[in-house]
Amino acid sequence: AKLSVRDALGAQNTSGERVKVQGWIRSVRSQKEVLFLHINDGSSLESLQVVADSSFDSKELAFGSSVEVQGQLVKSPSKRQNVELKAEKIEVVGNCDAKAFPFKYKERHPLEYLRQYPHLRCRTNVLGSILRVRSEATAAIHSFFKPSSKVKVPEENFFNVPAFLTVSGQLHLEVMSGAFTQVFTFGPTFRAENSQSRRHLAEFYMVEAEISFVESLQDLMQVMERLFKTATMLVLSNCPEDVELCHRFIAPGQKDRLEHMLKNNFLIISYTEAVEILKQASQNFTFTPEWGVDLHTEHEKFLVKHCGNIPVFVVNYPLALKPFYMRDNEDGPQHTVAAVDLLVPGVGELFGGSLREERYHFLEQRLARSGLTEAYQWYLDLRRFGSVPHGGFGMGFERYLQCILGIDNIKDVIPFPRFTHSCLL
Ligand code: 4AD
Ligand code: MG
Repeated sequence: AKLSVRDALGAQNTSGERVKVQGWIRSVRSQKEVLFLHINDGSSLESLQVVADSSFDSKELAFGSSVEVQGQLVKSPSKRQNVELKAEKIEVVGNCDAKAFPFKYKERHPLEYLRQYPHLRCRTNVLGSILRVRSEATAAIHSFFKPSSKVKVPEENFFNVPAFLTVSGQLHLEVMSGAFTQVFTFGPTFRAENSQSRRHLAEFYMVEAEISFVESLQDLMQVMERLFKTATMLVLSNCPEDVELCHRFIAPGQKDRLEHMLKNNFLIISYTEAVEILKQASQNFTFTPEWGVDLHTEHEKFLVKHCGNIPVFVVNYPLALKPFYMRDNEDGPQHTVAAVDLLVPGVGELFGGSLREERYHFLEQRLARSGLTEAYQWYLDLRRFGSVPHGGFGMGFERYLQCILGIDNIKDVIPFPRFTHSCLL
């Protein structure tokens, strides 16, 4: 039988069952009588130990080469693993030029170094772990919204018509929320961010939800907090070794920081309170905090620390700062809308959302002021024909991974990062 490394490692039958395992050599150790190889195929962090006698030619079996091993699965005498593969036949599928290969056996390469090799870095333990976590987190998010069914990916076809890249699925979700009371989408979104920051990409994945008949921001915040916590618990229980490796190698102390986030109720402050807090500490900042001005990353990070490193919702932002669709709070001279951002440790803004302006006349005026009336007739229609109070949010998926794993640079949590002047692969 052909087995993945993961299945081989977990095999119950170790009484010499004949199996075939394929993968890449992660280490070679040759002793007088025997040769030890470790084979990895991406199915688990742990590699499978292959034991071969000295009749096998170790020169061929270089670090990085791809191989197919046939042999018997047996109980390992070593305490380090339960199972090992006693090789009867080893076939090199593809040689690896070890001298030119950018990764060296046993060396722990920093993430910045690995980033130079987007086409090869997924062969390292650390990127393997990050990407397995990414995959588990994707599944966890889908199962949060849709507990029992498989995901259907829609086909895209542009024919000969000019097409635009979407910056958000929100407006389409709002259309859907006029018939389905709870909808979500999870896919790539695009922003022409002229930024080399550690938390911006030109193409990132966003989880967006839209909920009809919501009564307040509170309703939305509850879903955001449940999404964050439920998905994270699923990831932690489905790939504990990979999360552990990231925490141990990349971000010592992250395990405790994450637990702290999971066991506390997220906090809530208003934008106005946030600005007050920041003003008290303005000597710490490059950008002076001021009511009516957007929060900078440095402000967001300060607020999270100020809140004891518990994620914090900031609500009710100045109307003048926010897009036309956010619901008017009709409050005092400091005019705000029902917007919410969730700020998290290490990252800053992770979620952005709002109640939507469901009142026809309010929306009509806001559109007129933005000069968008003509283009958004269809959007006004949604308010003419059975409008309901609704709201939604978007969560940056890469920032989510950064937050739970403690990864400083967003380019390290996506297989092929696209950012300013870099869409090379
Ligand atoms: O705050 P944003 O721009 O909100 C929206 O797009 C809303 N229309 C979503 C909605 O209500 N349906 O983006 C949402 C989140 C941000 O909080 C951030 O985590 C992430 O998306 N994000 C980015 N992540 C990586 N690179 C970028 N350039 C990002 N821009 C936003
Ligand atoms: Mg935002």
